Amino acid sequence: MQNKATELFSDWADIGKDEGMAEAHSPAVNQILEQALSGNKSHFNFIDAGCGNGWVVRKVREMPLCLSACGIDGAKGMIENARRIDPGGDYHLADLLSWSPTVKAELIFSMEVFYYFKSPEELTRHIVDNWLAPSGRLIIGIDHYTGNPDSHSWPEDLNVHMTLKDADEWIQLFRDAGLSSCTTSKANVSKKFPGTLVVSGDLIV
Ligand SMILES: C[S@@+](CC[C@H](N)C(=O)[O-])C[C@H]1O[C@@H](n2cnc3c(N)ncnc32)[C@H](O)[C@@H]1O
Repeated sequence: MQNKATELFSDWADIGKDEGMAEAHSPAVNQILEQALSGNKSHFNFIDAGCGNGWVVRKVREMPLCLSACGIDGAKGMIENARRIDPGGDYHLADLLSWSPTVKAELIFSMEVFYYFKSPEELTRHIVDNWLAPSGRLIIGIDHYTGNPDSHSWPEDLNVHMTLKDADEWIQLFRDAGLSSCTTSKANVSKKFPGTLVVSGDLIV
């Protein structure tokens, strides 16, 4: 039987591996946030779907135009770490598919989370329908995708479900969920790494 991603990551958080993950994801995340907010002059509410220990929530909350920033994660250890680091922060222990915010957000971000879902289509639709404010943007980064062959063994290595898609399939999934101006790009590309696949779409209503 496969491990649940949230249980695996709760164990990682308990032994401090959340910090190494934040460090490893940081270069791609910085580029993704820059892309997400390029040209933005409006105030925005921010949600991090699968926030780990909440490091991106704390980073975005410091931005002058950010009105609110919250993080949701299904791993108990991750949310405990987030609350220990930042007792006043807004962190929710919940499955992404069963949680909805009271105030919809103009920017929804997620790093290395969507492929853990058996149906990323269902997750994307749930977020578009229930989390995203009109004119809002959903932007995600993923390292497990067809164009990154080194990632193909991860489901077996970790004994966790992962959904493998290529860039065209991810962009179609965003379009099918009702998003417009959908794009894919790469972040943190190097000689050794084909880059984090970045998928972005806007809710035009
Ligand atoms: C690879 S980690 C990335 C964490 C964080 N985004 C970062 O970059 O440090 C994936 C995260 O997704 C969370 N996750 C996976 N499936 C989830 C689900 N069904 N509901 C909520 N969180 C989930 C895990 O608990 C884990 O913290």
